[in-house]
Amino acid sequence: MIVILLGPPGAGKGTQADFISEAHNIPKLSTGDMLREAVASGSPMGKQLQEVMSSGGLVSDEIMIDLIRDRIRQADCKTGFILDGFPRTVAQAEALTTMFEEIGRAADVALEFAVDDGILVERISGRFSCANCGAGYHDSFNKPAKDGVCDRCGSTEFTRRKDDNAETVGKRLESYHRQTAPLLPYYKGLGILRTVDAMQPIDEVKSAIAQLLNA
Ligand code: AP5
Repeated sequence: MIVILLGPPGAGKGTQADFISEAHNIPKLSTGDMLREAVASGSPMGKQLQEVMSSGGLVSDEIMIDLIRDRIRQADCKTGFILDGFPRTVAQAEALTTMFEEIGRAADVALEFAVDDGILVERISGRFSCANCGAGYHDSFNKPAKDGVCDRCGSTEFTRRKDDNAETVGKRLESYHRQTAPLLPYYKGLGILRTVDAMQPIDEVKSAIAQLLNA
């Protein structure tokens, strides 16, 4: 199964991608995570990426398309994968369709996370993740079962993203509405767009997605 997740920053794409990955045993390909790894490497390219990401803008289509072209050809993607954060522009979506044609595959579902902009700053400003395994949490909506201990790996080290501040979130939202929202009619035209009400609590969104993907 190939699933594309579409939605604004903080809509819950990464959170739900982990659930889908576990339920269907397919990898989550998060372009945000891949870029953050490149930044952490401290390479000259990483430094350029950091500037773009902290401005709330988008990394160039060329870089992103090359990144995904290589990744989806890897062995673990054979039975399917989840795209979290790609495509984000019409050019990326068209390139993805061409890549799929080249390898004789097609996306099954493009899943839109429908949320009001008003709740996104609260979701993003409370977000933190495990510094060891990357499991995601929230100060109010998704705390670890034991305070200060990661549910998944037991680590006690946590981290917060540099771009999770009110100013950058505003810019990321603007980029979403200007450059990514036009993908909704694109995937509607391909007949694979499905929408989930992502204003609900995490477990309810999880159930709605499970129903939709199992249908
Ligand atoms: P990326 O890492 O993809 O960030 P994003 O799209 O802005 O999405 P987020 O990770 O912020 O949100 P999410 O929807 O995954 O929410 P989450 O599940 O964590 O991209 C970062 C940057 O990289 C971009 O700005 C850009 O510069 C660059 N980039 C990446 N891909 C690119 C591309 N293809 N082209 C160009 N540039 C690219 O949830 C948020 C919080 O809310 C969490 O704390 C969670 O616990 C909580 N939560 C989740 N669901 C719920 C719920 N239903 N109710 C209550 N709380 C919830």
